[in-house]
Amino acid sequence: MLKELIRKSRTVRRFYQDTPIEEDVLRGLVDLARLSPSSANLQPLKYALSSTPERNGEVFKYIGWAGYLKDWDGPDEGERPSAYIVMLLDTRISKKVDCDHGIAVQSIMLGAAELGLGGTIIANIKKVKLAQFLKLPDYLEILLVLALGKPKEEVVLDEKGELGPDGDVKYYRDSSSIHHVPKRSLDEVIT
Ligand SMILES: Cc1cc2nc3c(=O)[nH]c(=O)nc-3n(C[C@H](O)[C@H](O)[C@H](O)COP(=O)(O)O)c2cc1C
Repeated sequence: MLKELIRKSRTVRRFYQDTPIEEDVLRGLVDLARLSPSSANLQPLKYALSSTPERNGEVFKYIGWAGYLKDWDGPDEGERPSAYIVMLLDTRISKKVDCDHGIAVQSIMLGAAELGLGGTIIANIKKVKLAQFLKLPDYLEILLVLALGKPKEEVVLDEKGELGPDGDVKYYRDSSSIHHVPKRSLDEVIT
């Protein structure tokens, strides 16, 4: 059921780093994005893949994790993603992107959840440095990074409008290191 898949498709930030994700799997996930809706059907999105420890180690340097978890700098060695999909805008096709990248990234997230994988959509990116590492031509602009792996953390969806300890929607980890994600209630979001 779609709702169950959406529930399962939580942001995961700790992984079994030693469990590889083959490039074919990444290509299959990008294929879901490729088939997703696109404004004016321009399809300006391109993708750079990373699935080797060396390349992953470089990509990891240029992304930021969990802004609300102030005392956590991101996953430790051994719990880092085993693959990344870097989502790019081909500015030769379109100078701007409406929400194509949001739709595309959710297609990938759902496809990953279906495969038992998890991930984090990351917008906090050192774009210049990552573009240099990836040797991107000037016409490719970095939009998002999707970090992927086999989940090694428990994530609980607090989906009935329960707030976190700060009395708001900030995600948090409880004393058992379980990650909680407060979602606003259905009554609150329908006006
Ligand atoms: C556009 C976008 C950008 C995001 N950027 C980051 C990021 O830079 N770093 C990070 O750790 N999480 C990032 N996230 C993940 C969100 O924090 C996460 O979606 C939110 O806490 C809700 O959790 P859920 O995905 O399990 O519902 C981003 C999510 C979206 C949709």
